[in-house]
Amino acid sequence: MDSKHNINSLLGIRYPILQGPFGGGLSSVKLVAAVSDAGGLGGYGGYQLEPQALAEMITDIRNATDKPFNINLWVNDTDAASANYTDDAYLQLCKLFEPIFKEQGLALPSKPANAISKFEQQAEIVLCMKPAVFSFVFGIPDTVILQDCRKLGIKTIGAATTIDEAIALEEAGVDAIVASGFEAGGHRPSFLKPAYESLHGSFALTRILTEHLNIPIIAAGGIADAKGVRAAMALGAAGVQVGTAFLATDESGATDKHKDALTSDKSRHTTLTKVYTGRLGRVLSNIVTQLIPQDASTAPFPLQTTFMSTLRKHATETGNEDLIAYWGGQIAAITKRQTAQALMQELIAGLD
Ligand SMILES: Cc1cc2nc3c(=O)[nH]c(=O)nc-3n(C[C@H](O)[C@H](O)[C@H](O)COP(=O)(O)O)c2cc1C
Repeated sequence: MDSKHNINSLLGIRYPILQGPFGGGLSSVKLVAAVSDAGGLGGYGGYQLEPQALAEMITDIRNATDKPFNINLWVNDTDAASANYTDDAYLQLCKLFEPIFKEQGLALPSKPANAISKFEQQAEIVLCMKPAVFSFVFGIPDTVILQDCRKLGIKTIGAATTIDEAIALEEAGVDAIVASGFEAGGHRPSFLKPAYESLHGSFALTRILTEHLNIPIIAAGGIADAKGVRAAMALGAAGVQVGTAFLATDESGATDKHKDALTSDKSRHTTLTKVYTGRLGRVLSNIVTQLIPQDASTAPFPLQTTFMSTLRKHATETGNEDLIAYWGGQIAAITKRQTAQALMQELIAGLD
């Protein structure tokens, strides 16, 4: 098989199955190790970690598995608009959310402080700790970072939601690209055009990218079993990245309530919304996504996340699950609660 279609030797894995990294504390060392030990590529989403904590996490993963694994970061981890977010805009935001906060007996939080990007320092840790694979979303790292990865033997994987993003990533010299369809759980990692204008489905995106690009394409979004793997490979994908189905496994960092929601009838309906973080992402539909219009203006990332953390804390303490963002993709409706090893066996069965 040519290098465009074979990522096993590129990434040092047995099966071209990547466990989608989860940012925001939902990844776990156990899950990364279970997937890598089973012959796939476990991935840890660390964008929220301080550089030192990221280094410790990589050490923990190394202690848990001797197989290759992937560390994932967000290149753009603070919206530029954060710096200019006005008091007036904050007032409007408060008005929009007042009914929900009032009903919960909660005071509206005061305007959060501006966040500072962690990416450059996190990337230094990656270069220093040398995981086998460094994947990233929301942009393309600086040329120097990519060159250093090449020198150090760290394989790089970017994420594209459109053909233009994929071409930009290929031109930058990444080793492989995740084709991220809008079915996927979590954020839409678009970086050239707004996420709302970059909503390709996995089927179309994978096929377009395998046709037009010369590097391996990894299909992501809507794959959760052998049938999904078979379909992606038939479209010319070199591998698959599975998120939601791994999120529901015993080893993931999601809470039991989140896993229960993913594997219950609640997961039949998902929504793309900016309401939880200020960036477009797919969650299971709930009272918040129903009450706040999809096109409502929210604060930039990560201000919106900080604003919503009061509500999340309250919802967790009171067990009011309907307010919590249970992230998940459209395929959640067929996910099962099982071990990562069992899910790996199911996915491997799709590799004919
Ligand atoms: C809760 C959650 C968090 C995610 N966080 C990240 C992330 O930080 N970085 C990333 O590259 N992908 C992230 N993803 C995307 C997954 O890695 C994967 O590409 C996607 O879930 C595949 O689609 P699926 O959910 O339909 O399986 C996240 C997905 C979920 C469900």
